[in-house]
Amino acid sequence: MEYINNELHLGPKKKNLKSLLSNYKQPIYVYDLDFIRARFALMSQALQGVRIFYAMKANSNPQVLRCLKDLGAGADVVSLGEIHRALENGFTVSDIVYSGVGKTRHEITEALKLGIYQINVESLPELERIGEIAKSLNKKAAVALRLNPDIDIKTHPYIATGLRDNKFGMELSLIPELISCLKKNSESLDLVGISLHLGSQMMEFEGYQEALEKLKKIYKTLQSEFKSLRKFDFGGGLGIFYDRLDLAKEESLLKEYAAITMNSLKELHCELQSEPGRWLLGHAGVLLTQVQYIKKTSHKKFAIVDSGMNHLIRPSLYEAFHLIYPVEKKNQESLFDVVGPICESSDFFAKDRMLGEVQEGDFLAVMDAGAYGYSMASTYNLQDLPGEVCI
Ligand code: LLP
Repeated sequence: MEYINNELHLGPKKKNLKSLLSNYKQPIYVYDLDFIRARFALMSQALQGVRIFYAMKANSNPQVLRCLKDLGAGADVVSLGEIHRALENGFTVSDIVYSGVGKTRHEITEALKLGIYQINVESLPELERIGEIAKSLNKKAAVALRLNPDIDIKTHPYIATGLRDNKFGMELSLIPELISCLKKNSESLDLVGISLHLGSQMMEFEGYQEALEKLKKIYKTLQSEFKSLRKFDFGGGLGIFYDRLDLAKEESLLKEYAAITMNSLKELHCELQSEPGRWLLGHAGVLLTQVQYIKKTSHKKFAIVDSGMNHLIRPSLYEAFHLIYPVEKKNQESLFDVVGPICESSDFFAKDRMLGEVQEGDFLAVMDAGAYGYSMASTYNLQDLPGEVCI
């Protein structure tokens, strides 16, 4: 992000955002494909030899998906809807890892008929269900066991997934039962891997390292029982800074994360898989919105914009911080609450934020909205979904 001639520009190639606003009709997400390419290049360089399955829940825009597919990514999906979206946009079944705690019979049946590359299993009843359905279809399902090591990565509780209180993955004490289920269903279940995802927005790696060490032992135990076991999926979760743009520091965290992963797992001599979402997309997208009213009370000044929690729910849901800049730079500073049109007091993008002296009709850019922005948008209050454009 950079102002050039007082106009906001996005990404390493400094793309002008104002030029996108001449026909403005509604709030719009803008994704910089060159930025995504640059991030993917950094990540694949750091994680050499690792197959990257992009977690498409972060952003399932068709052009974004095609861009990542062209770069060589696979897709990490969590629903039949995401499977279809991935297949419609260039991915093949052998590019898809299918995770998620609530896969229905219908979803599993379709995934098996399609021949999805790998299913990450999240519970014993799901493993049994997959075995049963695969048998009835005369198929062999390639499964990985998602394990929950009960480890805290110090993130927001709503996006932590590797603790015993979370619904995700299977506790390590379940291994004997999992082994017997796999053996009982050996004609329909092929154990190909184990998987791990401790949560999102991880900025330090002590817990992650501990989890790798725990799961490495399990991998070895399982390897002695199952010759088919050959993959370790270490999930996604690498975080980004939302309070500032510091790409150099993020790159050094990426290197640290990669070194910990590789050093820990190299002795397994197995295929490594990763499922990043936010790190690839977060900075590459902004949400552009227009100020409708400046509302002053005796306590506050509100900039009421035409987008809100219906388009970007992160501030409301996780009290997440997003930088906000006027698309055209303002000289005088002034404190605003930036709020949307939705009938909820949790409908805000920022509170007491120092912005320029913005006025009705001005445009604001909500930064770092490329991941978990549009993909979590809703039509609450029967507001339209925002637009999307790739540049
Ligand atoms: N793999 C699995 C199994 C996941 O559940 C997730 C994210 C990822 C990979 C990708 O994680 P990432 O690299 O993007 O951190 N809506 C929240 C984030 C929820 C993440 C859900 N799972 C947010 O806006 O912060």
